[in-house]
Amino acid sequence: MDKIEIIGGAPLHGTVQISGAKNAALPLLAASILVQGAVDYTNIPDLMDIKSIKSLLQDLGANIESSGSRVRIDASPIHKIEAEYDLVRKMRASILVLGPLVARFGHARVSLPGGCAIGARPVDLHLKGLEALGAKISIEHGYIEATTEGRLKGNEFYFDIPTVTGTENLMMAATLATGTTVLRNCAREPEITALADALNRMGADVTGAGTAVIKINGVETKSLKSATVYVIPDRIEAGTFMVAAAATKGDVLIKGAKAEHIGEIISKLRQSGASVEITDDGIRVKGVENIKSTDIKTLPYPGFPTDMQAQFMVLMSIADGNSVVHETIFENRFIHVNELQRMGADISISGGNYAMVRGVKSLSGAQVMASDLRASASLVIAGLVAKGTTTINRVYHIDRGYESIEKKFSSLGANIRRC
Ligand code: EPZ
Repeated sequence: MDKIEIIGGAPLHGTVQISGAKNAALPLLAASILVQGAVDYTNIPDLMDIKSIKSLLQDLGANIESSGSRVRIDASPIHKIEAEYDLVRKMRASILVLGPLVARFGHARVSLPGGCAIGARPVDLHLKGLEALGAKISIEHGYIEATTEGRLKGNEFYFDIPTVTGTENLMMAATLATGTTVLRNCAREPEITALADALNRMGADVTGAGTAVIKINGVETKSLKSATVYVIPDRIEAGTFMVAAAATKGDVLIKGAKAEHIGEIISKLRQSGASVEITDDGIRVKGVENIKSTDIKTLPYPGFPTDMQAQFMVLMSIADGNSVVHETIFENRFIHVNELQRMGADISISGGNYAMVRGVKSLSGAQVMASDLRASASLVIAGLVAKGTTTINRVYHIDRGYESIEKKFSSLGANIRRC
């Protein structure tokens, strides 16, 4: 099982190129199901989760050609409407094929994703939304069965809470419904805007993405045509490298990072004392000797992203003073705390979703265990700043969402290797 070994203490210096966004690419690739024809994608990141959704689409019958970060998907030959347990359990974002399958074929059978390390991750809002569009939903033997007589029918639907993949699933399903669908209390992430842009390039009619109200005028399948889709840069990978630059007191240009996607991360880094400069190429972050303690509260976009909570906690663990980290999105997203405590961090959890981080002078290297994608990234940052050697076990978690993470950090001067 791959491990990553880091000898900490080196400030990061240089330039790192951000890859395409995992959480944009996944719904974009699923959207190919809607089109009878080929969709060409560029800037697709080389990640385990991308391999997983490509395997799922191929299992359904789609033709996929890949060359580096370019992928062509022709979903015309799809002959299967079932996303099997073994494929879905590897990656719960497979739920994103549910909406497109039932919209195009009138039938979909998708294994319930189940929970993961960070929480129960229910999909009840995805299902309620599809029912609002006229789908019949049943759950049998761990599978979601969704059927519709003829096309789905446009309707109004209000999300009880803003859900990213729920919004994406319903946008894709409504694309082929009859009439108009209005989705309210939608998630507003940049990945949702990117999906709407791609659907419109394919011939759909989606407006309002990026706001809480999205309107979709349904079209017929034959109206959707081949398109070329560029995957936006990964704002969470960018944020991860920005925090690493600040924590190691380095000076790094994060190339390709889009400031308009990470405003709250920039704001919190500046509050912690780091210098954050927005350039034409990306974002340049310079760390400071004395890191200021800074409270964070995770919120739906454009609030502070939950996917950056673990990484920012490492920065606060070596700040001057105490910081409060309030996780409001997932019920179990402090798994990294125990591992950081083993490295000398002084953190206590109260009430389940509050962590009090008391800054310490330095962390010390240790054997630690990766648990979920972003917690694993926080352990890499901790290893980079700790005194001595840190070995991170189960790094397959990291490979799900970070492209060649050790190569990118090594190019910035980190003493890091996969072993
Ligand atoms: C997306 O997950 C991201 N994944 C997650 O990134 C990210 O952490 C999350 O959004 C929040 O920003 C992808 O885009 C593939 P949600 P998603 O539905 O869509 C509750 C990473 O590390 N909820 O926005 O599954 C849910 O329990 C991953 O890249 C329901 O109650 O998250 C949570 O409390 C981790 N019912 C809240 O909504 C539902 O039907 C937000 O979840 C759906 C969600």
